[in-house]
Amino acid sequence: MCGIVGYIGHREAYPIVLKGLKRLEYRGYDSTGVAIIQDGDLQVHKKKGKVVELEEAVVGKNMHSTICIGHTRWATHGEPSDRNAHPHLSNNGRLAMLHNGIIENYAQIKQELTNKGYTFKSDTDTEVLLNFIQDIQDNNKSTLEEALRIALKRIVGAYCILLIDQDDPETIIAARKGSPLVIGIGKGEHFLASDASPIIEYTKEVLGNEKQTPFIQKLDMELAAIEKGGYEHFMLKEIFEQPDTIFDCLRGRLLHEQQQIVMAGVDNHIEALTKASRILIVACGTSWHAGLVAEYMIEELCRIPVEVEYASEFRYRNPVIHAGDVIIAISQSGETADTLVALESAKEKGAFIFGVVNAVGSSIARLSHAGAYTHAGPEIGVASTKAFTGQLAVLTMMALKMAKAKGSISDERYSHLVNELASVPKKVKEILADTSKIESIAQQYKGASDFLYLGRGYNFPIALEGALKLKEITYIHAEGYPAAEMKHGPIALVDENLPVVFVATKDMYYDKVVSNIQEIKARKGQVIAVATLGDTVLPTMSDNIMFVPDIDEVIAPLLSVIPLQLLSYYVGTYKGIDVDKPRNLAKSVTVE
Ligand code: M6R
Repeated sequence: MCGIVGYIGHREAYPIVLKGLKRLEYRGYDSTGVAIIQDGDLQVHKKKGKVVELEEAVVGKNMHSTICIGHTRWATHGEPSDRNAHPHLSNNGRLAMLHNGIIENYAQIKQELTNKGYTFKSDTDTEVLLNFIQDIQDNNKSTLEEALRIALKRIVGAYCILLIDQDDPETIIAARKGSPLVIGIGKGEHFLASDASPIIEYTKEVLGNEKQTPFIQKLDMELAAIEKGGYEHFMLKEIFEQPDTIFDCLRGRLLHEQQQIVMAGVDNHIEALTKASRILIVACGTSWHAGLVAEYMIEELCRIPVEVEYASEFRYRNPVIHAGDVIIAISQSGETADTLVALESAKEKGAFIFGVVNAVGSSIARLSHAGAYTHAGPEIGVASTKAFTGQLAVLTMMALKMAKAKGSISDERYSHLVNELASVPKKVKEILADTSKIESIAQQYKGASDFLYLGRGYNFPIALEGALKLKEITYIHAEGYPAAEMKHGPIALVDENLPVVFVATKDMYYDKVVSNIQEIKARKGQVIAVATLGDTVLPTMSDNIMFVPDIDEVIAPLLSVIPLQLLSYYVGTYKGIDVDKPRNLAKSVTVE
């Protein structure tokens, strides 16, 4: 999604903004641009394509300025092109503005402005808002800030905007609603960005703006966390970080020796959580898959009914929500617009919102009544990997804690699962110790046009997640299905060219999944199995096998997803795809 960077102070602004835009590239974008003010002259440079193409285009130009705003655009209104790239200029040429979000009522405002003689160089909603601001300023003879405030009262939608005026090189005006903005405070300088990554190398002091009263807070992030650290891609780095990120997530919470789980967010609201007549889980994409695993866990361990909802559907189908209903919101970025608006409306109806979020201080974290961070650190690769296992770790601890408080789990089972969960970081490390088999499977199947992913029980959501990962970063069509459901339709696809990935670790469904594998083999499908180390049956009937250490089925998703992440990664890189920034995708989907 769009990325925003701004700088105003005493240094050369353009290099800071350019570097910041590169740091935001992971969010996904299709064009980029900057605006500076030089001796009362407002200059805008913008280009379709990567930041580096803009950088090359301005080589030799005088970019000296102490004020600069920059943008990476992810197209919503109008195709990716130079003219649709931000920043945009107002009709009088004095104002430049960039924007992340969507102005939903832009068409009506555009019509009004067109009637007044305004013209538009782009197809964007942003240029409409900018000229609307100019119009108000001209008519009301108001300051730019006042004009902006008046304009925003009329705006329906979400936005974060930066606005500059060629007559005022000392000011960047910023406004946000529903879209993220971090403001970093240096000595006589300010940094603005969509997230903290462009800011942390200059300052760790950022402005918090909860409840309208600004206050300064410290950023808990290191520069190294957002750099590749010797790995070829962020995605690979993030896959390999998982033993540590899962450990960090469990640290201080899963007190293995004492057989205790300490989670303040859960402890403080244990009544609301355990007495809920049902729990709704709201999320999108990979986070939705984590929600499905949680559904199985909470229903099995806590005996509370759970419904897992796509946030985008939940919001608009007028769901029945009662005061006191518990909603678990899952999000890596904490900024996903579909999830955010779903939660806002549920909160208005009196639901209790528990956030499972990775990005500290993000909008969903702030909106939640309580929550637990996943502590996976910044996830830069567009495909979610370490954030997913962080979500699973948090949700497992929650389910265990709630079950214990409710008395719906035996001491023995609780203790067993606590021990199993504590063993996860070490076991993930074992899977990552040798990836050669997975690399050779990827090499073998990189030319396939379709994949089927099958699993049952706790491994069904992992089949969905494996298929999503493959689609995202290899552009190969893949579908995930419950293994048994395969015979109700997808089996028609099976022939000698179809690779079928079975997530078939040892669990209560194992024998049935073995039968499903035989059904595929009988039709000459290519079987790739994720199996439990020591399994001697699956190697006899699979074309390829990826082993994971033995673990209880409740915890198994934390292990069985790892080979699938790697499989997608290697297929994607063998196909020459930029796996960190696959086409059309955005890391943080901040539009509905
Ligand atoms: O930041 P969120 O977890 O709310 O994002 C939700 C989805 O957009 C995200 O999981 C998406 O599906 C990823 N690209 C998956 O790899």
